[in-house]
Amino acid sequence: MSDLSGKTLLASGFHAPERGLVEELLHALIAIDQSGIIASVLHPHDAGYDEALEAARRTGSLATLPAQSYLLPGFLDLHVHAPQYPQLGRALDVPLEAWLHKHTFPLEARYADLAFARRSYGLLVDDLIANGTTTALYFATIHQDATRLLVDICLERGQRALVGKVAMDNPDECPAYYRDSSADAAIDGTRALIDYVHRHPDNATGRVKPVITPRFIPSCTDAALEGLGTLAQECGCHVQTHCSESDWAHGYVLQRHGISDTSSLDRFGLLRAGSVLAHANFITLADMETIRVRKAAVAHCAVSNAYFAGAVFPLRAALEKGVKVGLGTDISGGPSASMFDAMRATVMSSRMLETGTDPALAAETRGTAGTTRVDFREAFHLATAGGGAALGLPVGRFSPGYHFDAILVDTAAPRGTIHLWDELDDGDGILQKIVYSASRANIASVWVGGRAVLA
Ligand code: GUN
Ligand code: FE
Repeated sequence: MSDLSGKTLLASGFHAPERGLVEELLHALIAIDQSGIIASVLHPHDAGYDEALEAARRTGSLATLPAQSYLLPGFLDLHVHAPQYPQLGRALDVPLEAWLHKHTFPLEARYADLAFARRSYGLLVDDLIANGTTTALYFATIHQDATRLLVDICLERGQRALVGKVAMDNPDECPAYYRDSSADAAIDGTRALIDYVHRHPDNATGRVKPVITPRFIPSCTDAALEGLGTLAQECGCHVQTHCSESDWAHGYVLQRHGISDTSSLDRFGLLRAGSVLAHANFITLADMETIRVRKAAVAHCAVSNAYFAGAVFPLRAALEKGVKVGLGTDISGGPSASMFDAMRATVMSSRMLETGTDPALAAETRGTAGTTRVDFREAFHLATAGGGAALGLPVGRFSPGYHFDAILVDTAAPRGTIHLWDELDDGDGILQKIVYSASRANIASVWVGGRAVLA
C-alpha cells in the first residue's frame, strides 16, 4: 500500500478510543489530509457517506484495502532501550543490578563507536516498524553523537519517536567507563540533544521529540536530578525514567532519600504531564495518587517484569485510580520487539495476579485481593490510544484531528499465524484472534502520518 496523505481510505478494522470500548470499523471512509491528519471518519449509516464515497471515486482519491485485511492504529511502545537491541534474548538470568554492570553498561558503552550505533539502531528501527510500532519512546545512551544518529534514523525511516540522551552521573552506581563526567555534563548534554532535535532540518513537523532521561535515581546525583527537573519546567519536554522497578531499585531510593521513588521524582520536578515512569511495580496507592495528580503516566512492561521485577505491576488498581498507562517492551529487559507480546503478557500477568500462583493455597485465598484481570480489549487500548494519552500526542485512534498512524493486518498472509474461520469468527472476536495470534508476517503495511513506512 502507498502513501495515504490526501486520500480517502475505505477500510474495515478496529480501534479502542476509550478503555473498555472497541469500535469496529466496517467499510468506514477515513479522509486523510495532505499533512497526514485524519480529517473525518464516516460510517455507512452516517449522513454524507454515499456522497463522500462517490466524490472520492470521481476524483481518483479513493484507496481501498485488500480482502481479509484489517486496519488497526499503530502501536506505541512506551519503553525501549534502543542500544540494548544487540542483547535481545540474552542475559535474562541475573538480577537487575548485576545485569546492568555485567551486560548492559558494557554494551551501551560501545555506542561511542558510530559505525556500531548505525548498524544497531538501523536494525532496531526497521524491526520495530515491521512489528507495527509507529511511535517509540527511546532511551539512547550517554553519547551525544550516537543519540543524534538515532534521531536521524527515526526521521529517515519515518517512525514517530521520542528520543532521550541518557543522564547518569553518579560515580557510586555508574562505572567510570560509562557515565557522564559530572551533573553539568549530564544536563548540558541533555540540553544539546533537545536543541539538535528542535533544530533538525528534517523535523519541521516535530515528528521526533526530545526527552529528558535521567536513567533512574540510583544512577543520578541529586544535582543532576535537580538540574533536569529545572530543565523540564523550562522546556516543557517529555521526561522518562525508571521508577520502583525491583525490590533493589525501590529499596535503594527509600534508603537514599527516605521517601518513595515517586515522591522523590516529584520533589525534583520530574513528574509532569508527559513524564513516563517505566515499570512502577512497587508504587503505593499514595504514589498512584501523586502520579495521577501530576498527569504523569506509567509504561507497563509486563514481559520484562517477569524477568527482572520480582513482582507484577498492579495494573487494575492504577487504572481505577485514574493513572494514565501505556505499554512498553523494555527492550532488552523484555526479549521481544513485538507489542503483540506486550499485550499478551499484560493480559497473562493480570490474570496471574487475580488468581494467584501458589497451588498449595486454596483457590479462594490464592489471588491478590480486590484485583481483576484485563482482557484483550483493554490491552489493545493500552497499546494504542492509552499510549497516545500517556504521551499527550494525538495518535492511537481513528478520530478527526489524530495523525493517521496505522497498520494493516493481513489475516491471510501465507506465513502468518492467524487463522480466521468464516463460520466462527466475527465482530471483535476477529480482533481477539489478531491480538492473541498475530505475528510480524501478518503486518502487511505500516503508515506514520499518512506516509507508508512499510509497504
Ligand atoms: N533500570 C536502570 N536501567 C535500566 C535498564 O536499562 N533496564 C531496566 N529494565 N531497568 C533499568
Ligand atoms: Fe527499562
